Amino acid sequence: MFKIILKEELGQNVKSFFIEAADTARNAKAGQFVILRINDKGERIPLTIADTDAQKGLVRIIFQETGKTTYELGTLKEGGYIKDFVGPLGQPTEIENYGNVVAVAGGVGTAEVLPVIKSLRNAGNKVTAVVGARNKDLIILEKELREICDELLFATDDGSYGTKGFVTDILKNIIDKESVNIVYAIGPVPMMMAVANLTKEKNIKTLVSLNPIMVDGTGMCGACRVTVDGKTKFACVEGPEFDAHKVNWTELISRLSLFRDLEKVSLDNYKNNSECKCGRE
Ligand SMILES: Cc1cc2nc3c(=O)[nH]c(=O)nc-3n(C[C@H](O)[C@H](O)[C@H](O)COP(=O)(O)OP(=O)(O)OC[C@H]3O[C@@H](n4cnc5c(N)ncnc54)[C@H](O)[C@@H]3O)c2cc1C
Ligand code: FES
Repeated sequence: MFKIILKEELGQNVKSFFIEAADTARNAKAGQFVILRINDKGERIPLTIADTDAQKGLVRIIFQETGKTTYELGTLKEGGYIKDFVGPLGQPTEIENYGNVVAVAGGVGTAEVLPVIKSLRNAGNKVTAVVGARNKDLIILEKELREICDELLFATDDGSYGTKGFVTDILKNIIDKESVNIVYAIGPVPMMMAVANLTKEKNIKTLVSLNPIMVDGTGMCGACRVTVDGKTKFACVEGPEFDAHKVNWTELISRLSLFRDLEKVSLDNYKNNSECKCGRE
């Protein structure tokens, strides 16, 4: 059992937990993730390791409530426990001194890009972060990003913060003006695909962290398979980071929507059954 030491609400439906998991905290590197299970009957879900405190043995996860398990996870309280917490899993991000780096993040991808930016800065890179959200209220971790980035730019769909428009509008401005050595993109698949299309034109190396559905996280079940450069890869053991210009995006989008109807039924059932019935006839 893994204890929740600190719980914070970072924004609309986005929560952060510091979990007591000493082995994972000691061994984790940027870009890796855990697979957790809330209880014996729970499904396994992958979440990125957003931060660690090796001395205190703590691992930070930040998650958006999108479906049944993430909603249920959000109901757990400080002092409560998670049944399984397995990690670090996946290949760490390739960290080198590339020079001028742009890190693009969308939505809860901001949490996933944080450890990558920290490691890139420690390796001597200049890092500009471009963060996108639908509106100002959905922006998370601004203070943490300000502390670690050389430059920080925001794009919101409605213009309520930063530039009105998409992260790709800002990225296009940057790569038109200066020489960028590498781009990292982490966020919703359509955003990562748009970034890949943009940087491909200029031949800028681009890495993305893919989020296919995962089950066992060991390369055995095949659930997380993605096609990269025409070859089948298992994102849990060979990724989740891949060359953005070689990913088969159409296939990934189609596989992510495979269980959408069942996921909705599962969330509706959870909400209907877990709602407080006090005071009802
Ligand atoms: C390596 C990896 C790291 C991840 N890190 C984070 C993280 O740090 N924070 C975070 O909030 N989420 C992260 N995700 C996504 C997270 O695993 C899913 O949101 C979660 O599994 C949804 O479970 P659920 O039961 O709540 O929702 P479900 O009922 O399974 O799905 C609800 C909705 O979420 C979508 N969804 C399901 N699985 C994924 C997925 N893998 N990626 C994107 N959308 C999905 C579905 O299409 C559906 O619309 C990560 C995914 C991977 C593969
Ligand atoms: S999650 Fe099962 S093979 Fe990757």
